[in-house]
Amino acid sequence: MNYFNYRKGELYCESVPIKEIVKAVGTPLYIYSYKTFERHFRVFDRAFQKVPHLVCYSCKANANGSLLSTVSKLGGGADIVSGGELYKALRAGIAHNKIVFSGVGKTEEELKAAIRAGILMINIESEGELAVLRRLSRNMKKKVPVSIRVNPEIDPKTHPYITTGLKKNKFGVLWGDAHRLYHEIAKEEYLVAAGMSSHIGSQIVELTPFVDAVRSLKSMILELRGDGIPLNMIDIGGGLGITYKDELPPLPEDYAKVIKQELKGMGLRLILEPGRVLVGNSGIFVAKVLYVKKAPEKTFYIVDGAMNDLVRPSLYNAYHEIKPVEEKKAGTIKADLVGPICESGDFLAKDREIAQLNQGDLLAIFSAGAYGYSMSSNYNARRRAAEVLVKDKEYFVVKKRESYADLVKGESTPPFLEV
Ligand code: LLP
Repeated sequence: MNYFNYRKGELYCESVPIKEIVKAVGTPLYIYSYKTFERHFRVFDRAFQKVPHLVCYSCKANANGSLLSTVSKLGGGADIVSGGELYKALRAGIAHNKIVFSGVGKTEEELKAAIRAGILMINIESEGELAVLRRLSRNMKKKVPVSIRVNPEIDPKTHPYITTGLKKNKFGVLWGDAHRLYHEIAKEEYLVAAGMSSHIGSQIVELTPFVDAVRSLKSMILELRGDGIPLNMIDIGGGLGITYKDELPPLPEDYAKVIKQELKGMGLRLILEPGRVLVGNSGIFVAKVLYVKKAPEKTFYIVDGAMNDLVRPSLYNAYHEIKPVEEKKAGTIKADLVGPICESGDFLAKDREIAQLNQGDLLAIFSAGAYGYSMSSNYNARRRAAEVLVKDKEYFVVKKRESYADLVKGESTPPFLEV
């Protein structure tokens, strides 16, 4: 369910024609629907209403400040993986005690900042990280609630790059080690064994892997209870998938139902870290056709958006639905949608059956709200796109298109090269 709809053959976001935004802001650009994001958050949150829980929006999916402020306004927290995300989450008003910190490579500086901020929980991913936290918490004489991110060794059957809960992945700690580490934590004066966490992967469209992961965490938590180490929280990560093409992911209510069922009677506070399911279909990426190039083998639509703006097709061979902003009457053809970047890997779609387009036509690339802008780069010295948030009849530029000056910000010339 989202608020991108065609009215009389023209694409709108909520009550604003895409064309109107493009006229003022230009292309390429990201457009987010406030109502869609808000609705997705509420539906997800409501699905867990009967149990103590906290929805910690996974900032990595899209850390635009206005989206983070929306999460804060709706009572949500944040799942962060860097000092930068901590900074952005706090700046957007997300309460410090609603922030959880995951990630395999947290630096000392980042850990200190998190301890100083007094976040809800730091999810430890290795024995080395525990050693650093032990030292920092003693030096800073501050209680630090921690969890261990356990690796439940479960295959979520998704793209290998976004599978995280297998033995061969770099994430989390296997149960044998985690068990020992919990005992070490219990002996510490300043470290508090607050919870247990896991995240098995992303774009998961079946319930079974989630159920298996929760079941396995539950048995570990019970084992720790038996050892006299009671935990208050279970953090089951994110990962619920969305429809890009024809996937039929479980509804948040169904996802919540099986998880609640597994955790019945455990008396745990449930922490969730959804990213994609909240923001993925809340955003589109809009690009303009620069040239129609007919080669002997196929037609190329060369657009002004590229892999630096939206890398998912190039990196994961991901499918994003693409439609013209103004519906076309003429038939379709098979074409490649490519950007201006000097790599053959720069494409938004390959061999796609798409409307016949002309120079200047606008295209909407759907389901681009998650891992779109947040994975963008300046490759080929391309300025990052603008981001616009639509609410009802109004739109707001929530991030300006970068300028050329932004491209050289922070650069300096050594004296021997000065002219
Ligand atoms: N929690 C942790 C610890 C994570 O590593 C992730 C995502 C999430 C939560 C949120 O997962 P979600 O609900 O969004 O599936 N760039 C890839 C996705 C990478 C996901 C990384 N971790 C893509 O574009 O598909």
